[in-house]
Amino acid sequence: MGFSTGVVRPAILRVAHHPWIERLATGTRLGHAVADRFVAGETLADALAAAREAAAADTSVMLNHLGENVTTMQEALAEREAYLAEIAAAAAAPELDVVVSVKLTQLGLDTSVEDCWRTLEPVIDAATEAELDVMIDMEDHTYVDRTLEIFHRAHERSSRVGVAMQSYLLRSSEDLFTLPAGCRVRLVKGAYLEPPEVVWRGKREVDRAYTRLFTTALERGHRIDVATHDPAMIAGVRARVDAIDGWSRVEFQMLYGVRRDLQVQLAAQGYPVRVYIPYGTEWYPYLTRRLAERPANLWFFFSNLVRTR
Ligand code: FDA
Repeated sequence: MGFSTGVVRPAILRVAHHPWIERLATGTRLGHAVADRFVAGETLADALAAAREAAAADTSVMLNHLGENVTTMQEALAEREAYLAEIAAAAAAPELDVVVSVKLTQLGLDTSVEDCWRTLEPVIDAATEAELDVMIDMEDHTYVDRTLEIFHRAHERSSRVGVAMQSYLLRSSEDLFTLPAGCRVRLVKGAYLEPPEVVWRGKREVDRAYTRLFTTALERGHRIDVATHDPAMIAGVRARVDAIDGWSRVEFQMLYGVRRDLQVQLAAQGYPVRVYIPYGTEWYPYLTRRLAERPANLWFFFSNLVRTR
């Protein structure tokens, strides 16, 4: 495994869990300054403004109201309200081409599968009514079984629901075969701190697993969201999909604030590109994953620290 992915990434994610570090990031101008790069803002209005900017560059969007691991149903229900408001706003702005992205631990999965389902169901119904797709993010490996269980239920209720699969997880190659035929699947490498026994160890292995997942998903007729900024992966997908003229069921997806140059370039060349736009006040865990993905981002963090002191 490369030094950055094998050593630095887990180290950053571990340190980031420390309450002192979290306080430094969330309670100071420093944290907010760094978060600004990766998070569109704290309100739905901020997210919609970012979505309009993305639309001006011919990219569509996926909105994610930030939040995860809520511990009470009261919090889960508040998250549901945020999503219902998001869906209503997206329905009122059809020119934006919005997909809704949710995390199940944000909707009560830590309380129970049933609680989570009760929270999610009205979100799915509202999105389906508004003709919007809902994507379920994949969180750390301890949630995969429960996420897939809920995804299957959700997909039975509405074929507009899709799910993310992580190529770093050894199990994903088998999980992919359990998905309903043709469903929407987002392929990602994986962003969480995982024990070594459940993941591929090296970048090369994770990348190869990604390519295999893509090939299988293409052959199985899935609608595929290629969610990566990796130029080699993107070039490979372009060649494969160009050859079969398959762009009606494949799109590129990238994160807000990451490789915007590539987003704009691909869109200008006519490829479908969607930007994942996170917003809300609970940005800290999301930010730590973005910092951990790329050690250079830490220099960005520390240079801001110096400037804001
Ligand atoms: P890789 O890490 O190999 O990076 C390739 C290149 O991209 C880098 O060299 C750099 O140039 C650029 N890059 C990548 N990350 C960067 C960053 N943070 N800052 C600056 N440059 C960066 N994960 C998950 O576990 N569950 C999920 O549901 C999702 N959902 C999701 C949706 C979308 C739309 C995207 C794009 C990503 C996710 N992810 C995710 C995150 C994903 O698992 C992964 O951690 C990141 O995309 C980074 O990996 P890359 O595939 O970009 O490749």
